[in-house]
Order: sequence, then C-alpha cells, then structure tokens
Amino acid sequence: MPRTAYVNGRYVAHRDAAVHIEDRGYQFADGVYEVCEVARGNLIDMTRHLDRLGRSLGELRIDWPMHRSALTVVLREVVRRNGVENGLVYVQVTRGVASRDFLFPARTAPSLVVTAKKVDPGLAAKRAESGIKVITLPESRWDRVDIKSVGLLPNVLAKQTAKEAGAQEAWFVDTEGYVKEGGSSNAWIVTTDGRLVTRPAEHGILRGITRTTLFDVAARLGLTIEERGFSVAEAKSAREAFISSATTIAMPVVEIDGAPVANGHPGSVVLSLRQAFFDIAEKTQA
Ligand code: PDD
Repeated sequence: MPRTAYVNGRYVAHRDAAVHIEDRGYQFADGVYEVCEVARGNLIDMTRHLDRLGRSLGELRIDWPMHRSALTVVLREVVRRNGVENGLVYVQVTRGVASRDFLFPARTAPSLVVTAKKVDPGLAAKRAESGIKVITLPESRWDRVDIKSVGLLPNVLAKQTAKEAGAQEAWFVDTEGYVKEGGSSNAWIVTTDGRLVTRPAEHGILRGITRTTLFDVAARLGLTIEERGFSVAEAKSAREAFISSATTIAMPVVEIDGAPVANGHPGSVVLSLRQAFFDIAEKTQA
C-alpha cells in the first residue's frame, strides 16, 4: 500500500509530500509536534496528545491549524489511509510560510503535516525482553523543553552519541548531577523498596503523555510514585530503571554508562507496567 501524507489541506502521496522552502519550521524550527502511538488500530491517548499540542501551540502563540475536532478526523483518516494497525501517527504544526524574518509574520496560516507509519510491535516486545542501554550526557538543550518543539538538534546529537557508544538512549543530566530525561523519552527508576521515582514535570523536562498515563497504571497496580529528582549514582544502584515514551511505552534500562542496573536484566515492576498499559490508556478507533 503506497503511503499517504496530509499536507496543508490535501492528502498526497508520501513520496511527493513537501512543504515550502520558506516554511518557518524548516528555517527556524518554529513549530511543534506530537507523536501518538497506534496499537491494534487504535490511537493511544489521543486526547492527552491533543491537549499537549494545544499547550505547545499556546506557549509559542501559534494558532491551531484547524479546529481540534477536525484534526482528530485527519489523524484517524491518515492512519486509515496508510493501513496502520500498529505504529505511530506524527503531527507537525509550524508558524507557516513567510519571507524569512525573525519576527512573527502578520497574516500567515500555520502549516499542518500529518503522517503515519507502520511499526512491527514485535520489535519493541523483543527489545523489552532484553532491555536497553543508556549513556548520560550533560544537558545541552534550551530551557523550554516543556514545549514539544521541532527544534531537536541537541536530542539528535545526544542520541547519535548514544548509538555510537552502543546504547539506545541518552539521558540529559543537570548541573547538580540529577537525571532530567532522555533524548526522546522520560526517565524513571524503581527504588530497592519498590517505589517508582521520576522527575517532576514542572521544570526541565517534557511532560510525557506516556509518563502521565503510567501514573494511572501505577495507581491501578497499587504502586507508589515519588515525583522527585534522582541522581545518576542513585539510578546506577537502583533496583530497576526504565524509560517511557509513545514509541517505547515502558522500556527497561539494563545498563547505564556501561554499568549494569541490578542484575542487568529487565525488572518485574517495569514489565508489569508495560503489560497493564494498554488496558488503562485511552483508545480511539481509527
Ligand atoms: N518523544 N521527552 C522527550 C524529550 C521526548 O521527545 C519524548 C517523546 C518524551 C516522552 O513523551 P511521550 O510519552 O508523550 O511520548 C519525553 C517522541 C516519541 C519523539 O520525539 O519521537
């Protein structure tokens, strides 16, 4: 099935889909995005993703590209047209096309792109069986990482550094030695007495949708969450560590900077969160 993208009002062949060279997303990274998981033909946590999209747009003073309810129709239509049963849908909104000038253009409509991609769910399942490795790096991003901006160059460089070190994710660390989050995921640990720990989302991280839903999952499983910072040293001596994102759900971390976490195998707490996730997350039929 040939892929289809939605670009500014039209469904077009993915291979021909393009935006203008003076789109401000291209020139200034002046835009925001969302990645929403698709599982068994359902969009996962679409309401929360659209809530966060609205927040990101508001913070940058970019208008919604269309009414929110119309956007849900486009998301589901792109998923359907691409025959995505399992995978993800990507939404990007930029401030639009205008002659290059740092100042906001006066009368420019935002640009909207929506794509969908199939991902074999077996790959993540297999990865969860072995767990992933992370490295830690000093924070190198701007202060407003709470906005899901398309300006991801530090994340690109950090994740490439991780790959070259044989790891699958890079954790950004603040100047006090506390873990912030991954290049494209939130960071968690499980203490020796079984409490979940993750950094508060008020400052310095993106408030992950998967993170938010994992709070619901933890409550259902009777697990306690402590929202506080944790250091790299605490993570290395934790009972378990894991990451969360729309593309990984809860994914065990078995090695940090080359040192094994506990016995170097995925822990039972993260696997139980992973297992219960889809029972609790919101599902919207495409
Ligand atoms: N990234 N932190 C960062 C920096 C992220 O880029 C992401 C998601 C998350 C987790 O957020 P959520 O649970 O809403 O996916 C945290 C997406 C998956 C990406 O850029 O591909």
